[in-house]
Amino acid sequence: MSAERKMVQERAVSGVKSMSAERKMVQERAVSGEDPPPQYIMEESHRPIDDPPPTSPVPVPVVHLGHSDETAEIKAALQSWGMFQVIDHGLPSSFLDEVRDIARTFFKLPIEEKQKYSNLIDGEFKYEGYGNDNIIAEGQILDWTDRLYLLVQPEDERKLELWPVNPSSFRDVLHEYTIKTRKLVDDILKVVAKSLELDKDFFSSHFRERSTIFARFNYYPSCSRPDLVFGLKPHSDATLITVILPDKDVEGLQVMKDGKWLKVTTSPHALLLNIGDQMEIMSNGIFKSPVHRVVTNPDNERISVAMFCSNGLEKEIGPADDLVNEMRPRLYKRLKMKDYLEVFFQRFLQGKRAIDWAKL
Ligand code: OGA
Ligand code: NI
Repeated sequence: MSAERKMVQERAVSGVKSMSAERKMVQERAVSGEDPPPQYIMEESHRPIDDPPPTSPVPVPVVHLGHSDETAEIKAALQSWGMFQVIDHGLPSSFLDEVRDIARTFFKLPIEEKQKYSNLIDGEFKYEGYGNDNIIAEGQILDWTDRLYLLVQPEDERKLELWPVNPSSFRDVLHEYTIKTRKLVDDILKVVAKSLELDKDFFSSHFRERSTIFARFNYYPSCSRPDLVFGLKPHSDATLITVILPDKDVEGLQVMKDGKWLKVTTSPHALLLNIGDQMEIMSNGIFKSPVHRVVTNPDNERISVAMFCSNGLEKEIGPADDLVNEMRPRLYKRLKMKDYLEVFFQRFLQGKRAIDWAKL
């Protein structure tokens, strides 16, 4: 790990000394049939049930890669939803199932086995590893989820000691999934650039140079009170683009569209792509980073894998010059990625958005 990256991570977590020393995994609470304890319960005005009830499922737009319409399809999907699904992504369904399987097998291991990869070292929170969110403020409301968070790119910054060896295929499958999703994202970023009439490498060249990809394996246990808690509070991603492998059977993801929460449904073979704050900034707000959330349910656990694709930490980003003109003034400042991420994580943990900080 570079000294600078380390510094950013340490700064980002230093605000309040970790109060996480004795954390119980959500999975353990669910297994013992516990109702959610107070620190997981949303304040009354923000509960899942208090929002307008999600309308019936509408499938997220499908983009057909390699078709002559792909550019228009991506543009329309990003302007209306901020996300789309891809079915002809070239990753065999059997391989996607393998990715789901390594996640499921890992989360089913005994707790002691998983704790070998804990994100708490001597009570101090580390970004990578197995566990929950960092606790940075008193009264912070926690998400009903456990997760394994790993940097997968740049390869020379991987902390392999945190990559599970059980199941034995874990490392190979995750490595292969990284290569494949990276290629897909690279291709898609070219189409996104084209849809904005920018040079086709505008986003992908940013993405390539020391870009980072974090893999997050999300485990959302079933919950006796889905009306009180979130699997993941409403948020947008900090990324350029995120690739989600949703659970094959269990729904839970919702997206805010035109002021309403919609349940997200996708084909079992699809990958779901959503843009994040970096794309909103670089596109000068033509594309908006969608606000989304995950709800729980009393009967089933849910597993998803997110690949967070971002510009390198040392990169400075801002709106593309070609997207700034008299009609459309510059809406966001230029900023260094590591500064943005620092603000992002502080706010994310408190259920607040960081994009406002980037606005001029
Ligand atoms: C995320 C996220 C969605 C999901 O990890 O940021 O939004 O379906 N995940 O788990
Ligand atoms: Ni997200």
